[in-house]
Amino acid sequence: MRRLLLWMASNGWMRRHIPRLWFARRAVRKFMPGESAQDALTAAAKFQVLAIPVLFTRLGENLTRIEDADATANAYHELMAAAHERGVPAEPSVKLTQIGFDIDVDRTLAHAQGLADQAAAHDPNETLWIDMEGSAYTESTLAFYERLKKTHPNVGLCLQAYLKRTAADVERLLPLAPKIRLVKGAYKESREIAYQTRREVDANYLALCVSMLTHVKDGRDLFLGLGTHDVRLIEQIAAYASSIGLPRTSFDVEMLYGIRADQQRRLKGEGYNVRVLIAYGDYWYPWYMRRLAERPANVIFALRQLLP
Ligand code: FDA
Repeated sequence: MRRLLLWMASNGWMRRHIPRLWFARRAVRKFMPGESAQDALTAAAKFQVLAIPVLFTRLGENLTRIEDADATANAYHELMAAAHERGVPAEPSVKLTQIGFDIDVDRTLAHAQGLADQAAAHDPNETLWIDMEGSAYTESTLAFYERLKKTHPNVGLCLQAYLKRTAADVERLLPLAPKIRLVKGAYKESREIAYQTRREVDANYLALCVSMLTHVKDGRDLFLGLGTHDVRLIEQIAAYASSIGLPRTSFDVEMLYGIRADQQRRLKGEGYNVRVLIAYGDYWYPWYMRRLAERPANVIFALRQLLP
C-alpha cells in the first residue's frame, strides 16, 4: 500500500486530476487548515494561544520555471511579514526545489539568504528550515546547507533516519553548529541506501538521537528537533536525555498540523518544547499522498469523505 501510494504521489496524470475531486479536497483538510496564507495564519493564532509556536510550509516542489520559484520566495516573504505584524514568530520550512534548486542554484541561495535574513531581523533565533527531499537531492542539499550556514547561523536542515548515510552526515555537519530536524523519511528509497523496515528505521532514529544528545551533553552547539509523531520513540529519547542530565527542553518535538493534536498538547503541558508545522497552498497532491502512505488507514478516512 505504501509503495502504491508513493507511486501515485509521483504520477503526473493523477497529480493533475485527483486534486479536482471534491472528496479529495475535503479529505486533505484533515492535514491543512486551508489553501490560503490567511488560513495558515488563522491556524497559527490558535496555536499561539496554547503557546505552541508554528512552522509554515507553502506546498510545492520540483518547480520548472524560475518565475514560479521567485513567486514562491515572495509568497514566503509576505507570509512572514504578515505573521510578524501579528506578533507570530514565522519559521518557514522550504523545499529547495520549490525555490529554484533544479533550475538555478545561485538564485536558490539568494532566495534562502533573503528568507533567513527576514527571520533574523525579527529574532536572531528565528530559523529558516530546509526540508529534505528524495535521495537524488541529499548530497546537493547538504552541500547547499553547508554553504548557507557559513553566512546565516539561523538555518536548519532536515535529515532522514531511514538513510544509512545520516550518521555520517550528522558528524559532517557538527563543526557548523547545525540545527537539525530528524525525521524518519517520507520517500520511496532503495534498500541499498535506506533501511526498509519500521524496526530498523526506528532503531536508527533512536541511535542518531542518542549520539546527537550526547554531543549536546558534551557542550557541542547542536539544536535537535524531533520531527515525528512517534510518541513511544519520543519518550525513549526523552528518557535518554534525562538519564544524562539534560532537561526536557534540550530538544524540540515537531509534529504536523492535524496529526496527534492530543499528544502535541500533552507534551507541551509536560514541559517539552513543541512546534507544529502548518502546510498551506494549492499544490498539495504529492504532499498529501505521502501523508496517506505514512498511514494507509488515512485512505479509509479519505474515502469516507464520499459519504454525505
Ligand atoms: P510513524 O510513521 O512511525 O508514525 C507514528 C505514529 O504517528 C503512527 O502510529 C500514527 O499514530 C501517527 N502518524 C504518523 N503519520 C501519520 C499520518 N500521516 N496520519 C495520521 N497519523 C499519523 N519527511 C521527509 O522526508 N522530508 C522532510 O523534510 C520532512 N519534514 C517533516 C517535518 C515535520 C515537522 C514532520 C513531523 C515530518 C516531516 N517529514 C519529512 C515526514 C516524516 O519523514 C515521516 O514521513 C512522518 O513524520 C511520519 O513518520 P512518523 O515519524 O510520524 O512515524
